[in-house]
This record gives sequence, structure tokens and C-alpha cells, in this order.
Amino acid sequence: MHPFDPGYAHAPYATLVGDYPGPDTYPAKDFRVEWGPIFHRGRLDGSARVLVIGQDPAAHEAITRRILVGTAGRRFQGFLNKLGIDTSYVLINTFLYSVYGQHSGTLHATDPAIARYRHAWLDTLVTHNQIEAVIALGGLADTAFHTWRKDPGSAAYDGAYAHILHPTYPDSAAASEADQAAAMKQLTTNWNNALTHLRPSTTPDTPRPFTPYGDTLTPTDLAAIPEADLPPGLPAWMRSDEPWATRQGATPAAKRATITVQIPEDQRPF
Ligand code: URA
Repeated sequence: MHPFDPGYAHAPYATLVGDYPGPDTYPAKDFRVEWGPIFHRGRLDGSARVLVIGQDPAAHEAITRRILVGTAGRRFQGFLNKLGIDTSYVLINTFLYSVYGQHSGTLHATDPAIARYRHAWLDTLVTHNQIEAVIALGGLADTAFHTWRKDPGSAAYDGAYAHILHPTYPDSAAASEADQAAAMKQLTTNWNNALTHLRPSTTPDTPRPFTPYGDTLTPTDLAAIPEADLPPGLPAWMRSDEPWATRQGATPAAKRATITVQIPEDQRPF
């Protein structure tokens, strides 16, 4: 049997996904609205104990229609693993659509209409699950969390909170190799501190002794995206460690319109 994510057929999620905001709320100059909204990854059956706020979907997510499945997702899945959380999580992003342009995320960080729909998801998730910890990935997610906290709907939540560096912070923060190594160390130190803070208040699916990160993320620190998190029938290579989706194009417009999908060489049965 292949486990799969059954999607959004039932209330309250059926209503939420049927009522998503479009370009009136997310301007096309600042968001890749043409790739459609991408809502979540993880449990919608009431079993989530950890609620995660990511930033915005990228190329891999546009294809799988679930969030945090690329490099950022595999790094963060490893963080959940160190928390002992194997299945009891649910992830949403700050933005439903991929951010286009360097400053667009910040520009729309507190837009009321964007927040309204995000709050509808957050309110629903804390009402229908026993959430013990909320984790925000990066500064925009942290702003999203605190904006929600000012809203009466968030009053139902009284668990732990951690704002951690975004999983791809080292890639975006640094140009030179030395800077990149320093940024990696910053990330692993930050994540170790967050794990120390969160572990006492989080009930693990699988209790594990705490094994802190070293100075950099190693291949064993990444975790696979579970098959059960993706829609039925997606091929296994869509969960593989190598990147398989890239934006390509000779002009900004062509690049925005094109995602090239290629099966990693070692995943080909031919
Ligand atoms: N992909 C997502 O869906 N969210 C992130 O924050 C990063 C990559």
C-alpha cells in the first residue's frame, strides 16, 4: 500500500480551499499567482501537535501542490525528526503564492487581506488539533505569527513558540564560501537552541535522545518527505534528495512562465 495525502475533501478544509484569495489580494507583480495557491503539507485529521509557518512555495512545491518539499523542506523535516515528530505536524506558508522579486515579501508582510485568509487557516488548525508548539521559519513567518497573535481567533492557542532561521538562510545570506560556512553555523546553533526550548513542551511520536547539529548540515541531518504527505500516485523521485524542478527561461517573463522538471539520473528505471 502507498500512503497518500487525501487532500481537502472534508470540512473545514474544503471551505478554506474553495475560498482562496486571488490576484486582487496577491498582486501578480509581486507573486507568481499564475502557478496557483499551494496550501499546506501534513496532517489535516486532527492529529497535528506541531504547527509550522513557512514562507512561500518555490518550484518543487508548484509541481507537487504541497509545501516545503524541496531543499528547505528536507532540511526542516530533519529538524522535526530531532524533535521526535515523524507524522504529527502540519505546515502552512506565510504566503499562498511564490514571492516574485526581492522585496515583495516584506512589502506584503502585514497586508490585512492576506492575513485574513492566513488567520482563517491558523484559527482552524489550532481549533481542530491539540497544537503544543508553533514554529516560524524566518522573519516573515515570525511577523505572520505575531500578526495572528493580535487577532482574537488566536486566543485558543497557549502552547510554545519558536522563531527559527529559515532553512535556506545560509544559501541566501551568503555569497563567499567563508560567509556560507558562518551562516550555516549560525543556522545550526539557532536550530539547536530552538530544539532545546521546544523539546520539553512537545510530545514526540518517537522519543529520541537529543542529537544536536554540528557546525553545518550534513546529509544525515536531512529527512525524506514522507510519501503520506503528497497527493496519491506521485512518483518516488519527487521526494528524492536531488533537485528536480528549476525555473528556466532566457527572459524574466519566460523564466516566470517555465518550470523544467527532470527525473534525477539515479532515479531513472531506464
Ligand atoms: N518552500 C515552501 O513551501 N516554503 C518555504 O518557506 C520554502 C520553500
